[in-house]
Amino acid sequence: MDISVHYNATEHATNDLVVLPAFTKKVTKGKKSTNEVVNSHWPKVVKENFNSIAASKHYKGNTGEHFILHVGDTTVLLWGMGEKSKLDNEAIRRSAANLFKHVKDHHDEVSFVIDSIVKGNKLPEMLEVFTESLLMTGYAYDKYMSKKATNKIKSWYFETKEKKSKAKACDKALAQAHIIGESVAFARDLVNDPPNHLDSVAYAKLIEKDVKSIKRVKYKHLGRAEMKKEKMNLFLSVNAASAHEARLVHLTYTPAKVTKNTKHICFVGKGLTFDTGGLSLKPSGSMVNMKFDMAGSATVYGAFRAAALQQPNVKITCILGMTDNAVSADATMPDSIVTGRNGMSVEILNTDAEGRLVLADCLDYACDLKPDCIIDSATLTGACLVALGTEVCGLMTNDSKLGAKIKKSADTVNEYVWELPIIDEWRNDMKSPIADLKNIGGTRFAGTPKAAAFLENFIKNDISWAHLDIAGVGDSSGHLPYCPKKGASGQMIRTLTHFATNS
Ligand code: BES
Ligand code: MG
Ligand code: ZN
Repeated sequence: MDISVHYNATEHATNDLVVLPAFTKKVTKGKKSTNEVVNSHWPKVVKENFNSIAASKHYKGNTGEHFILHVGDTTVLLWGMGEKSKLDNEAIRRSAANLFKHVKDHHDEVSFVIDSIVKGNKLPEMLEVFTESLLMTGYAYDKYMSKKATNKIKSWYFETKEKKSKAKACDKALAQAHIIGESVAFARDLVNDPPNHLDSVAYAKLIEKDVKSIKRVKYKHLGRAEMKKEKMNLFLSVNAASAHEARLVHLTYTPAKVTKNTKHICFVGKGLTFDTGGLSLKPSGSMVNMKFDMAGSATVYGAFRAAALQQPNVKITCILGMTDNAVSADATMPDSIVTGRNGMSVEILNTDAEGRLVLADCLDYACDLKPDCIIDSATLTGACLVALGTEVCGLMTNDSKLGAKIKKSADTVNEYVWELPIIDEWRNDMKSPIADLKNIGGTRFAGTPKAAAFLENFIKNDISWAHLDIAGVGDSSGHLPYCPKKGASGQMIRTLTHFATNS
């Protein structure tokens, strides 16, 4: 689907389908208050046509409420967007998503008359938000289906009375939306790929291939031998039963000009291509969908990709810890004591608490790169789903300023994060009587922040660190019309991209 702007619009960009926003407002007559359609921005012919239809009196322009009419050979869809004063970026994303789904199977060309939803000089911002939503909504994981998902629309136009002189800023906004849309799609594909196709080795190869097209990005990876040398025994203990070699993928984006003031941010992601639980085997019902246990790594990669494509003036490192958690005679046994890269010993009481073991060694490795901050993202605990649902991402941090910055980025792009504390009681609960640490707490309570209390031990040199538990928001986010009902959501990629490009 080609998306473009039609400037200086004196006539419509197509006659196939023209979409005109409609709004609603409350009017009070005496004691009675009712809703009325707001349509002062419609062309005169449309208003006359609308008023001549008897049923038009029922139409109020509420959110999602629509009305079709015909003006000559042109089909016009009146698209309700509710109260104009409440129309923020997220309302536009949601409206765009629902509109796209409504029209995609019935038209080759669609023209959206955008000026009435633009406040002040925000045309580029509106274009970006709208387009980003169209692209996220148009995503379908159909590579294994003989019947592919449908989208009839070849051309999507935004019609505006603005002059062509606005084109530069608008083109940039559209390009930005495409970067987000494509990076979200790339990350969603990785998460949706099944474990028999996407193992650690295949995963690393896909990333290696993808970064080839991004300027100033370097790829390297550590395999089993290199990780042994690095004493990453916690990570390797998770890989022990796997048929596939573990991969630690290390990506670096270096901006064109680096000075001693150049900020360096580091992303770390949990990349469990499948989590059986290991010998602490998951029951079959809980094991289904554990292909998504690499969503943390796909999320930080999606953000790294989207940020690096914009060539920002910040150094970005991305560390992806890839393996599956399998079962064989070589599998790590519960009760094992394993020493990690930072020299701390861990009593592994539950092999299903494997993500923190992989992250532990990755975080220690990341600290040695001396970044200004580290943000990790992981599908770490089922408890996070219980606490915050599929709507809100768990945030834990050792630096409230970093936490506030992440929260601000999330607010800007309308994603939800909520901070959970890390307290001494939970730090103590993660200590073992016979090793430095154990990998599970003494009770199942506070499972999410206890996992963070464990991870915190692997952060050194007072580096600012934040942990995002995306176990809930990583998939099945059907509450958002621009996310698939089932499968990878891509949530948090926009937040982390914003964070990286505004650091
Ligand atoms: N990958 C899971 C976390 C998970 C579970 C994410 C369900 C999404 C849905 C993780 O490796 C895990 O198994 N965590 C355990 C930790 C427990 C053993 C302390 C969990 O949450 O049950
Ligand atoms: Mg597990
Ligand atoms: Zn896991």
